[in-house]
Amino acid sequence: MTTLTSTPRFLAALARTPTDRPPVWLMRQAGRYLPEYREVRATAGGFLGLVKNPALAAEVTLQPIRRFGFDASIVFSDILVVPEAMGQELSFGVGEGPKLAPPVRSMADVERLRVPEPSAFSYVYETIARVVEGLPAAAKTANVAGVTDVPLIGFCGAPFTVASYMVEGEGSKHFVEVKKLMHGDRAAFVALLDKLVVSSAAYLVAQVKAGCRALQVFDTWAGELSPDDLRDVAVSPVKRLISLVRAEVNVPIIYFARGCADAIDVVADANADAYGLDWRARITRTWNVLDAAGGPRAVQGNLDPALLFAPPAVVAAKTRVILDEVGARPGFVFNLGHGILPQTPIESVQAMLDVVRGAR
Ligand code: CP3
Repeated sequence: MTTLTSTPRFLAALARTPTDRPPVWLMRQAGRYLPEYREVRATAGGFLGLVKNPALAAEVTLQPIRRFGFDASIVFSDILVVPEAMGQELSFGVGEGPKLAPPVRSMADVERLRVPEPSAFSYVYETIARVVEGLPAAAKTANVAGVTDVPLIGFCGAPFTVASYMVEGEGSKHFVEVKKLMHGDRAAFVALLDKLVVSSAAYLVAQVKAGCRALQVFDTWAGELSPDDLRDVAVSPVKRLISLVRAEVNVPIIYFARGCADAIDVVADANADAYGLDWRARITRTWNVLDAAGGPRAVQGNLDPALLFAPPAVVAAKTRVILDEVGARPGFVFNLGHGILPQTPIESVQAMLDVVRGAR
């Protein structure tokens, strides 16, 4: 059905053209659930050392393609390299999650941050070039029907989500500091978002120029906001980011606003080509609201990553529920509803893929 010259399934689905089956890739598909990843990471001197070593970063990007033959690849990096290039110190303590220091808490702190030159991320572009070169051989190793030309996805964090880490200085449960700044010194918070929009747009454009054929904007914490705040501090900056990117390059852009299904009509105003949904979303209902609000769009999601800890037969059945619900509606990309978890059993990933590919 698919020939060498045809558009890869992933790009076809993002353009809402029919595909023989839904394309599938996983958020965080390169990661600790893979023994081959853990092996490379152990030689790299930690996660950031891995990200900044293009040869190793390209290797771990290609690993899940070789093993599973996913329909898309995603650059191995992190959303927090942008605040690092803006002047904060980034570290990942063992088992602790990310830290950014010093935290941004005032207009003076925002003013001290720089808008990085896109060249600050030259290690990412070198990773991209190496991945693009290695993808055909990696796909060949996987030997999955119709997976030969695998597009590479570039990404950044959405301004609100990245600002949350910058203001909190680390991950957060209640987002008190970021909401304090957002509501207590609106001008400072808006200035921070503006700096992130400009910095992230240049970074995304450079990733496309280096070889990425699609982009994803991760708004992991958008679901912590009320609908009005969601519009003003999450969606509206992403909308500006997307229009700045589109003025320079022409690739599909996916907006993953996690936890926002109930406010998907607000999210739709970002004007992305596709929207990521988490497992709390009822796909058809959410997709219909999305299309009614912003015109027809593609949708990506949404299996609960924790479901992959269930027995493979249950994983297969729940995967089928999603596929049955979507049916032949064009514009669907199968994914998890959030990143794959570190201890995920590999047999579960395979069971899910077998169902998506019609093999079980
Ligand atoms: O999807 C991929 O395979 C590409 C790589 C990727 C990573 N982070 C690698 C990573 C992507 C797209 C991200 C995005 C990212 N980073 C987000 C948005 C998406 C999401 O998952 O919500 C966020 C919020 C971050 C910030 C971040 N980076 C956190 C909170 C953590 C620690 C959590 C953890 O699992 O330890 C990271 C570290 C990180 N980024 C790892 C990976 C593979 C784990 C590092 C390791 O220990 O090997």
